[in-house]
Amino acid sequence: MSPASSDSAPQRRRGALYGRRKGKPLSARREGLLETILPSLQLDLAEPAPASLADLFPVLVETVRLEIGFGGGEHLLARAAAEPQTGFIGAEPFVNGIARAVSGIVEAGLRNVRLHADDATLLLDWLPAASLTEVDLLYPDPWSKKRHWKRRFVSPENLARLARVLKRGGLFRFASDVPSYVEWTLLRLAETPAFAWTAERADDWRQPWQGWPGTRYEATAIREGRTPTYLEFRRG
Ligand SMILES: C[S@@+](CC[C@H](N)C(=O)[O-])C[C@H]1O[C@@H](n2cnc3c(N)ncnc32)[C@H](O)[C@@H]1O
Repeated sequence: MSPASSDSAPQRRRGALYGRRKGKPLSARREGLLETILPSLQLDLAEPAPASLADLFPVLVETVRLEIGFGGGEHLLARAAAEPQTGFIGAEPFVNGIARAVSGIVEAGLRNVRLHADDATLLLDWLPAASLTEVDLLYPDPWSKKRHWKRRFVSPENLARLARVLKRGGLFRFASDVPSYVEWTLLRLAETPAFAWTAERADDWRQPWQGWPGTRYEATAIREGRTPTYLEFRRG
């Protein structure tokens, strides 16, 4: 989604969720995958979370990471393929993105991915405390107009949620091509004593992280001449 389309998309307030849930009609194959495969990947928040999140995966995983707003799942799936001993949870309410990700998971035969097809705040409130080693928030909806800034995912409430679910020493990674959102995030994090910015030199926020596969949104931003910023914060 471009910043403009995010801001003009139909909005429905639901918890922390603004923005659209559905786009173009799905192909019959993708509709079928949502019916047959998604239920086995989808987390059941009506049940209590297991004490160890590793129990959510049918394969042995050592640690568990979360990606919030994975879009079409390009980054999530690339990371999951590169790190088979890590469990990945992806949260995304946009049905077309979920269908794309499910299709990719099936094609790649990935067994270390679980999905939450809804607002990430519901998932964050379900997860046990200190259960994740990393949370990625990559190119969140920018809400560029000042009167919409309060809709941004980075908020004191959501940072408290992230602080609760991250293990000590765990990482919160944020990428954006929107300077006002980068500044906003640095200010919100500076006000949150649970997190410390890990940057030591300017290059640290200009270069992506090791093994970075990029994201679909990022590719568009770069093509359109916008510059990404990468911020990383450690849970103290
Ligand atoms: C600009 S797109 C970026 C997608 C992807 N991260 C990328 O870089 O290609 C932001 C995504 O965040 C999702 N999103 C917005 N609010 C969310 C929420 N409360 N929980 C989970 N995902 C959310 C949107 O549906 C959208 O797919």
